[in-house]
Amino acid sequence: MLSLAAVVISASVVGVCAQSSSGTASAPGASGASVSGSAPAAPTLSPPATTFSFSLASTNPTAISLSAIASGQSLSPTLPLESTASPGVTPTFLPNAPPLPNPASLSPASYPPLDRPPPTDSPEVQAWIQQVNSSGVTIPDIPLTVAGGCPANPDAVANAGEGGRCWWTCGGCTRNTDIQTCPDKMTWGLTYDDGPANYTSNLLDYLDEQHLKSTFFVVGSRVISNPATLQLQYMSEHQIAVHTWSHPALTTLSNAEIIAELGWSKKVIKDVLGVTPNMMRPPFGDIDDRVRAISIAMGLTPVLWTRISPTATFDTDDFNINGGLTSVQQVLHNWGNIIGNASTISSGFIVLEHDLFQQAVEVATGYILPDALAHQPAFRIEPVISCLNKPLRDAYIETNDNSTNPPVGPSASAAVTLSSGAPGSASSSGSSGSNGSNGAVGGFNIEWPYLGTLAIGVLVAGAGILA
Ligand SMILES: *[C@@H]1O[C@H](CO)[C@@H](O)[C@H](O)[C@H]1NC(C)=O
Ligand SMILES: *[C@@H]1O[C@H](CO)[C@@H](O)[C@H](O)[C@H]1NC(C)=O
Ligand SMILES: *[C@@H]1O[C@H](CO)[C@@H](O)[C@H](O)[C@H]1NC(C)=O
Ligand SMILES: *[C@@H]1O[C@H](CO)[C@@H](O)[C@H](O)[C@H]1NC(C)=O
Ligand SMILES: *[C@@H]1O[C@H](CO)[C@@H](O)[C@H](O)[C@H]1NC(C)=O
Repeated sequence: MLSLAAVVISASVVGVCAQSSSGTASAPGASGASVSGSAPAAPTLSPPATTFSFSLASTNPTAISLSAIASGQSLSPTLPLESTASPGVTPTFLPNAPPLPNPASLSPASYPPLDRPPPTDSPEVQAWIQQVNSSGVTIPDIPLTVAGGCPANPDAVANAGEGGRCWWTCGGCTRNTDIQTCPDKMTWGLTYDDGPANYTSNLLDYLDEQHLKSTFFVVGSRVISNPATLQLQYMSEHQIAVHTWSHPALTTLSNAEIIAELGWSKKVIKDVLGVTPNMMRPPFGDIDDRVRAISIAMGLTPVLWTRISPTATFDTDDFNINGGLTSVQQVLHNWGNIIGNASTISSGFIVLEHDLFQQAVEVATGYILPDALAHQPAFRIEPVISCLNKPLRDAYIETNDNSTNPPVGPSASAAVTLSSGAPGSASSSGSSGSNGSNGAVGGFNIEWPYLGTLAIGVLVAGAGILA
């Protein structure tokens, strides 16, 4: 049962020692929903000193309490996968889908090492490079960026606008090949990134209970580790899409390295599901015209998240609770801003959320989704392909009949260098061509800590390959 009674929580974090005032509130009629607003004590890093306030229309009665959702929290149980999809079964929800492969036949040794950019001299990558070469898509000759984001790349920042490399990271530039919103107002294209992972099953269980479908941007290396989870996601009629092999910042990679990241991710998904996605999300939203063109040449349409101004990006920052870089209170405050802004824009919206870590899954299933489901007027919540008013079959290369979702190709890539921003994008709302000084605050630094802790380590380790 949904309650419209607001649960208002306000938590103050004052000073370096993160003293907190905690508040509890329960919503009458919300099945005794009770949430605590105390701030977690991060072991090494304190969340920014500020006051957070947010109100929730409903919470999940079985939610983990807010005070328990923090960096270093004890592990909660992972739910078993609701069912194991049977190898050989043919999906009935997609016309012409091939039978489901047997995940037991997946041999990790036939794939590159996990969590680092794959080598580019393999026969597979060489073949994909040839395919890109013969695709008819021109890959613009744009210098690579260096790790460190906007501050480390002044030349790229100066050239980040529509007349230049159109670097979304620093300034929010988009092309009309990018999907950044859903067209219909009050429609939420639900997405989760970086799985399949340990707590994905808990998220799937909740989505199933609420009859919700999502888009999952999956990391190839995680698919190797959790193929049965990916099969269940797919067979439960969620949309599966590409989020690279090792989660690097793609503008820092050479063309061949980008092709290797996308190609191996496409391949492992096809090997596990029998179908190949035709959408991708660049890790950290790090995309410019070179990365766009390579994605399009590989049959992958880029999907970002809604950004209506340099400071209003639809990023919950849920990813950073795990590392202690933000608090669950801050994340719910961000969420409040997102739905506040979602109600004011003329299009629908896409939000950045993750299923890699326990904390992000708990805030999604305990708070964000229950709140969204209770929202009045109601949101339409569905996968990105559905929010674009296209059938699920359009999301995979093998089942797309090209009638309602013609493949991206050379003609679309011409648009990469000619178009202006998509509806709802930063460029269409007048802030394109910004030098990125503000974009860094709203759109980039938020995810940068992940790159600092994960991808930079990987890139340094892989320096021999990258040189
Ligand atoms: C594409 O292939 C042509 C013909 O083999 C070759 O001359 C060209 O260098 C290739 N371009 C790239 C970017 O690999
Ligand atoms: C997932 O669970 C396995 C088994 O309990 C554990 O070894 C692994 O470290 C976990 N992965 C993450 C990312 O927490
Ligand atoms: C939109 O988001 C910004 C910050 O991200 C926030 O300051 C503003 O209050 C939000 N607007 C609404 C209507 O919630
Ligand atoms: C759809 O387009 C792709 C790429 O051009 C092509 O390979 C595929 O055969 C087409 N499918 C149909 C059903 O025409
Ligand atoms: C960047 O843009 C901001 C706001 O438009 C401006 O104040 C600032 O001087 C610019 N910085 C540079 C280096 O151009």
